[in-house]
This record gives sequence, structure tokens and C-alpha cells, in this order.
Amino acid sequence: MCLWGITLLVLGIETSCDDTGAAVFDTERGLRSHALASQVEIHAPYGGVVPELAARDHVRVLMPLVHQVLKTAAVPGRDIDGVAYTAGPGLTGALLVGASLGRALAWAWQVPSVGVHHMEGHLLAPMLEDEPPTFPFVALLVSGGHTLLVDVLGVGRYRLLGSTLDDAVGEAFDKTAKLLGLSYPGGPAIAAVARNGDSTRWRFPRPMTDRPGLDFSFSGLKTYTRNAVPEGGLDEQTIADIACAFQDAAVDTLVIKCRRALEQTSRRRLVVAGGVGANEELRERLKAMTMACGKAVYYPRLEFCTDNGAMIAYAGSLRLQAGQHEGLDFSVRARWSLADLPDLKEGTA
Ligand code: KG4
Ligand code: ZN
Repeated sequence: MCLWGITLLVLGIETSCDDTGAAVFDTERGLRSHALASQVEIHAPYGGVVPELAARDHVRVLMPLVHQVLKTAAVPGRDIDGVAYTAGPGLTGALLVGASLGRALAWAWQVPSVGVHHMEGHLLAPMLEDEPPTFPFVALLVSGGHTLLVDVLGVGRYRLLGSTLDDAVGEAFDKTAKLLGLSYPGGPAIAAVARNGDSTRWRFPRPMTDRPGLDFSFSGLKTYTRNAVPEGGLDEQTIADIACAFQDAAVDTLVIKCRRALEQTSRRRLVVAGGVGANEELRERLKAMTMACGKAVYYPRLEFCTDNGAMIAYAGSLRLQAGQHEGLDFSVRARWSLADLPDLKEGTA
């Protein structure tokens, strides 16, 4: 059954990694409420996400978070028309927490539910803003697990242009921060200290920009960081200088590949999403690059760059409106290519 044109109130649930997110999205009035519980403090002592601890904390906080967003939106559970939960890619145990609660709530409320692709959520997050981009556009998806350039023709119509051959760019930020003794997550920590860095002390390479193509490789930058660390140890200024050299190289590489992708596809719009999209240096450089080429760049607001329930509620609402939903059983997918998603066609069931 297709529900195009019908107003839906959708509960969205995100538990793919180390943030628990929930939101209520109204297809007519927009976002009604959203809330996030971060696990940063739990994982910080380990310098990275511990999957079992992540799953356990989702179990602890998800139900109260769902209550909270329903209350804030002043929507009783029985008024929810559909439930969207992240079904992958991500950590299996963490995904199962959101999927099983989402499916159970949908069964209790006798409404459809849909498993959402986490990266589709990121990709569509700028649609929650006041001036959303129109299709087609090129999307740069940069998170802790992914670095993708995608030609987006419409919802579910994704052509992969390039991806990383090794580390994701967010992962490179996190690993570099660890080498420099900075806190987890590494992205914001590197960006903060890089502000005081001297950008002329080191110049790291811009990997894979000297050859054609839109793929990335970020693991080499880690080696450059390691080699830059002096034998006698790190002082505050050296940490800032290395962070600056790393960030310049990572951002420059992303900007070069985005410009190339826009030229290659002749698209006029660039959408940037995912946790690394919160990086101010990247945002400024992409803005300057697109302006210089007569093109435009779109971002979600900062809090919707990183993982959140709002993007899942929104992406799920589109698929539910198109009639897509799960049966009574459900599954999650640790790995899942964006290219495998179905088109958003009317009447798809
Ligand atoms: O999208 P996200 O919240 O979770 C995943 O789906 O992975 O992205 C998290 C990643 C982490 O690697 C984090 O270090 C990075 O995004 N990140 C940043 C910034 N804020 C978060 N990287 C660079 N600069 C930032 N300001
Ligand atoms: Zn994410």
C-alpha cells in the first residue's frame, strides 16, 4: 500500500554505533522532537568504540529516550503511524537493540516498520533544513566508518563514484588523535588543537590526488603522523602543528576530490554529511571551492552531521510513505552497500 500524500507520524531510532538517537518526524509539519544520548564517556578510556559496551548502553537508554521524544512531541504512542530504525551498516549488537525495540513497538502499535540504511539517513539529513537541496546532487559522506562520493539522482537512486581503499577519514582523525595522545573522538579534538598549529612546519601528502579517479586512501597519513612525532616525545606546540598538518592534508584531499566529482558529473550541488562534515575547516574550504565554481554546498546543522535519530525518522518516513516496510521478522546488516537500496517508487511494497 502506498501512502504518498498521507501525513505520517514516524518514530525514528538510531543505534548503529556509539550514539543512541530517537526522534518523531511529522511528514506534514516536519521534525517534532529529537534526543540523543552520547556514549563518549564510556568509550573514551579505550580510545575507540567497544561494541559490547555500546550495545549494553543502548539497551539501558533507548526506551527512556523514546518516551522522552514522544513526550516532547506531545504524541502518545498510539498516534505513531510507523517506526523507522537503523538496520545497518554498523555494529551488529548495537543495531539489534534498535531493530528489536523498533520492531516490537511497531507490533504493539500495529503499525508498519522499516529498516533504514544509516548512510542514507546521513545523506538525506540536509533535507531537514529550511533550504534543502534538490536532486540531483553529489554527496560526500564522511563518517567514522565511511568515506564515499555518491551521485544522488533521487531517494534510493545512488551511483557510487568513489570510496576509501583503507581507513575512513573519520577513522584517520580518530587514529591520528590517539597517536598524539588526544581524547576520543579524535575529529573534534584534532580540530580544536589544530587552531593553534603552525601550518608551515610540516606538509603531509594529499593521497591519491595525483592520479585520476575519485577513490581515497587515508591510512598513509597515520604513518606521516607517526614519523613526525619527535623521539623525545610530544610538546603542546608539536601536537598542534602535527594536528594542523594532518587536518590540512585530509581536508585538502576531500576538497580536491569533491571538485573533481562535481566536474565529472556536471552536478551543481554538493551535499556533505556524516560526522566529519562537522569539521569547520572542511565546511569553509568546500564553501569557497563551490562558490568559486558557481556551485552550491549544503550541510545538515552541526548536530545532525553526527549520528542522530532525526535523519533516520526522516529517511524512514519517505520509505514508509512509498509503502516499503518489513514483515514481522527483522534482520540487521553490519555491511550494506548504498547501491543495494531499492528506488523510492510509488507503490513499492
Ligand atoms: O557519523 P558519525 O557520528 O558516526 C559514524 O557513523 O561513524 O561520525 C563520527 C566520526 C568520528 O570519526 C569523529 O572523529 C568524526 O566523525 N568527527 C569529526 C568532527 N566531529 C566528528 N571529524 C573532524 N572534525 C570534526 N569536527
Ligand atoms: Zn554515522
